[in-house]
Amino acid sequence: MMNLPITREKAVEVLRSYHPEEFDMIHYLESEAVMKEVAKLLGEDEDYFGMLGLLHDIDWTITKSEVSTHLTKAPDMLKRLGFDDEFIQIILSHGYGFEELPQLKDKERTKKIEYALAASETITGLVYTYALMRGKKVSDMEAKGLKKKFKDKAFAAGCRRDVIAEIEKTGLTLDQLFEAAIRGVTKIKDEIGLI
Ligand SMILES: [Fe+2]
Repeated sequence: MMNLPITREKAVEVLRSYHPEEFDMIHYLESEAVMKEVAKLLGEDEDYFGMLGLLHDIDWTITKSEVSTHLTKAPDMLKRLGFDDEFIQIILSHGYGFEELPQLKDKERTKKIEYALAASETITGLVYTYALMRGKKVSDMEAKGLKKKFKDKAFAAGCRRDVIAEIEKTGLTLDQLFEAAIRGVTKIKDEIGLI
């Protein structure tokens, strides 16, 4: 068991205290759900992975108006909540390689847990968009359908396939991630308005 300074309930409360737009809150909850499934497959700590997913964009609501500042406020926010440097570095790593983020664009992910977070939070975009296209249905979504959407670059064009593919650096396959993502999002479907 890895040590977490706050409960999951407290983390959700903190996120809501910044009044996120509903689709952003949905993204945080989905990222948590997918990370928990990925943790299970990797034999890692579900609560720790889940917390990373939940809080990875903690400063998004207060930085989205100026995207270049995304993840510059997160370290202080997380430190104040009691998270250690290791946790904070993993959170920051999901912004590595992004041209929009001057302080992070030249860095590269190197750890399994970093690849897991980046891939998990990114695939939520595909799953959610695909679910909306299917009349909000996620529960009967199949991995092979999601895989087709992954391969169709015109679908959810802003979704970074290269980042999703980083899951392979954890030892898991893309198919395993597709299945895990559908499983995770299905578990929270009621909470996020899917069926
Ligand atoms: Fe995100």
